[in-house]
Amino acid sequence: MKQWNYPRIAAHRGGGKLAPENTLAAIDAGARYGHKMIEFDVKLSQDGQPFLLHDDTLDRTSDGWGVAGKLTWRQLSGVDAGSWFGREFKGEPLALLSDVAARCRRYGMLANIEIKPTTGAEEETGAAVALAARALWQGMDVPLLSSFEACALAAAQRVAPELPRGLLLDKWRDDWRALARELGCVALHLNHRLLTPARVQEIKNAGLRILAYTVNTPRRAQALLELGVDIICTDRIDIIGPDFTDRES
Ligand code: G3P
Ligand code: MG
Repeated sequence: MKQWNYPRIAAHRGGGKLAPENTLAAIDAGARYGHKMIEFDVKLSQDGQPFLLHDDTLDRTSDGWGVAGKLTWRQLSGVDAGSWFGREFKGEPLALLSDVAARCRRYGMLANIEIKPTTGAEEETGAAVALAARALWQGMDVPLLSSFEACALAAAQRVAPELPRGLLLDKWRDDWRALARELGCVALHLNHRLLTPARVQEIKNAGLRILAYTVNTPRRAQALLELGVDIICTDRIDIIGPDFTDRES
């Protein structure tokens, strides 16, 4: 990748823990705190619409239930994805990727689009989300795609090779270098607990960038930035703000 223009801090699931995750209300919260980058999770409805949801099912974060990817967007669009979080968010709908792109444009925010396929729909989701991202982010800073699913990233690479990709790892694997190379990744997105000074150095020596998630204390964020981590993804959008690096370093 020629250029890496991403800020040092990204708001996890749009607005961290201050609003219902992965909704437009969450992105509005991220923007209110001045954040310049958001991370969010995208999957497909049964009829192929990319929308935001972390889990396979609707159960935890909405008043719906069951596997979200088995429902059409028409069915999903009636779900309340806000009340579970707080009464003031009652009626907050699930968000389409297209609505999120419009918010990013309005707020001048950069995006880390995590491809989070419904189990069994990995390739289809990787390809569809990459194509949608390419179309929706035209004229904006290029979104950073990421996924835990190698085959979703491979599909994204096939259809939109120009979009930068990050390989997500929640557990350390010794073949990270080969896998990242095979998928043409520019970054590793790692659970911050996996990051030791030696590993950060190794990854940087391999020419890869690093996003660390989910870092919720200023002390740990500062330590990781000093080691050379490129992006801190945080739920604590209130205390690890967009100006965190200016203030602390
Ligand atoms: O993309 C970083 C982070 O969001 C990955 O974990 O489970 O919060 O999507 P998760
Ligand atoms: Mg995520």
